[in-house]
Amino acid sequence: MENKLVCNCKKVYMSDIEKAVYATNNITDLEKKFEEVQKITKCSTGCGGCHDKIMDIIADFMNA
Ligand code: FES
Repeated sequence: MENKLVCNCKKVYMSDIEKAVYATNNITDLEKKFEEVQKITKCSTGCGGCHDKIMDIIADFMNA
């Protein structure tokens, strides 16, 4: 899969999100998961415009 840039402000890539999702495997709640992924990667801490997109990506990885 192409390693897309998913957060322009913080230069976070799809692979960074994927790693963070698996590193927080114990968390199953999507909102909490997002917060943890955000702490690890700093994604969505700039303009916030990528929030919905990253939520979708996290949900996809969680269901994979
Ligand atoms: S693109 Fe992610 S915070 Fe702006």
